Amino acid sequence: MPFKITVNGQPRTVDVPGDMPLLWVIRDVLDLHGTKFGCGISMCGACTVHVEGEATRSCVTSIAEVNGKRVTTIEGLSPSGNHPLQKAWMEIDVPQCGYCQAGQIMNAAALLKKNPKPTDAQIDSAMEGNLCRCGTYLRIREAIHQAAGNGAAKAGSKSEE
Ligand code: FES
Ligand code: FES
Repeated sequence: MPFKITVNGQPRTVDVPGDMPLLWVIRDVLDLHGTKFGCGISMCGACTVHVEGEATRSCVTSIAEVNGKRVTTIEGLSPSGNHPLQKAWMEIDVPQCGYCQAGQIMNAAALLKKNPKPTDAQIDSAMEGNLCRCGTYLRIREAIHQAAGNGAAKAGSKSEE
């Protein structure tokens, strides 16, 4: 049956089975490829998007669960790519291979919305489920602090306002 979701501020209708993972819908139906498949079993965080502003693992979230809801992917966090987290990520040169980084940024954005000035421990706790095989964790933490100082909590997609 058709499902209606708002993706990055745009209303979308997708006619897919209700048990199709949101990640499949985002990548294969809507052709938004910034969100990555890592493990498929909620163990790595590569597929993290926002559903109603909450960090959500799209690999284990069915399209039926998000029917009628607002979804934001990395493409919609800031359409011009100038969210304070994205700027901090570039300034600090966080990524190595880059594969995990969309999920890292989306999880960090949800953290800063809830906690605009997190401590090291709070960052580590919030981010510990987002794995990075390249070991960029220290730069991720530094970039989150930098973005926190630049108003990241107020920034973000219009679709989340
Ligand atoms: S791909 Fe979803 S948590 Fe790993
Ligand atoms: S930058 Fe390579 S997996 Fe994180």
